[in-house]
Amino acid sequence: MKTLRRLGVLTGGGDAPGLNAVIRAVVKAGFNAGIEVIGLEDSFDGLVYPGKTRVLTPSDVTGILRLGGTILGTTNRGNPLTSVIETEDGPSTYGDRVVEMFHRLKLDALVSIGGDGTLAISYEFHQRGIPIVGVPKTIDNDIVGTNSCFGFDTAVCCATDAIDRLHSTAEAHKRIMVVEVMGRNAGWIALHAGVAGGADVILIPELPYDVEKVVAHVKDRDRWGAKCTIVVVAEGATSRNGERTVIEAAKGSRLERLGGVAARVSSDLEALSGKEARYVVLGHLQRGGAPTPFDRMLATRFGATAVEMARNGVFGVMVANRPPSIVPVPLSEVVGRTRTVPHDSDLIKTARALGVSFGD
Ligand code: F6P
Repeated sequence: MKTLRRLGVLTGGGDAPGLNAVIRAVVKAGFNAGIEVIGLEDSFDGLVYPGKTRVLTPSDVTGILRLGGTILGTTNRGNPLTSVIETEDGPSTYGDRVVEMFHRLKLDALVSIGGDGTLAISYEFHQRGIPIVGVPKTIDNDIVGTNSCFGFDTAVCCATDAIDRLHSTAEAHKRIMVVEVMGRNAGWIALHAGVAGGADVILIPELPYDVEKVVAHVKDRDRWGAKCTIVVVAEGATSRNGERTVIEAAKGSRLERLGGVAARVSSDLEALSGKEARYVVLGHLQRGGAPTPFDRMLATRFGATAVEMARNGVFGVMVANRPPSIVPVPLSEVVGRTRTVPHDSDLIKTARALGVSFGD
């Protein structure tokens, strides 16, 4: 097994609270094991364009544990592998350039921190001979193979705090209050924040909703004197008629942008129930700011274990949280799949037992 001397680290895709905590753990664990860690700016661009690499030592990562965002430049969305770019050696595909520069920079391995898109690209580079360990990141918690991703807990805390705040104003006006949360095609954030915040209705993509059923639930609640109804809706929630709200269609390798479902649900509920409804879209608030202690811990464990796996020559894998351990999961089992909420999930059962409506 080749001794690991130089290790590259990059962050790709949208940001999630805890990226910096992973970088810090990789740098510190690497440094303490005598490995030089090279930070690559702007995702894989760090390998492609000049001036985007720098040695990272513990002093470079002091104080970043609690910071949102990433110290490694902006994160790129999309998969640029086949695009042709101009380099100092002439034209090349982006993918070829990454492989070539990886070797030219004398890197022995890469730790690639990202969501499904970045992990898919990492898998392609692994197949092209780059030894890679992936670290799963997303507030959506929808990556297959791991029980949780860092960023999710922070997003759930943000959404729960918002729901807590909305209760008092909703009660004061006896209103329906609809809160839209992120999560793409998975309802994890809505389900967890909905249960933690004591929502009365939770609408998730996995369970298509019928607005008439939600109205019936609101009326039932009125009958027993409920002061308000709090509805948490995942941005990817779909009605039984197949209606989904999309801000922007997918373009090339860019995924579609979801959003706007709270406005629709709120106006439908107002029209059909005769009660006043208001809505709030939490949007990127869920992704910004400091990671929670849970996310800092998970991110730190992921970073340290990624270095350990690289030292042991375990590549083409993603670190995964399988309590009580962090384990390697082959990237081949992860890419191209989405982890959605199972219909028989314990949390769905619990919510139903408490009288929460899923509108299904
Ligand atoms: O995947 C994370 C996520 O925040 C989703 O929940 C959301 O749909 C999407 O990214 C938003 O992406 P962007 O920041 O590119 O608008």
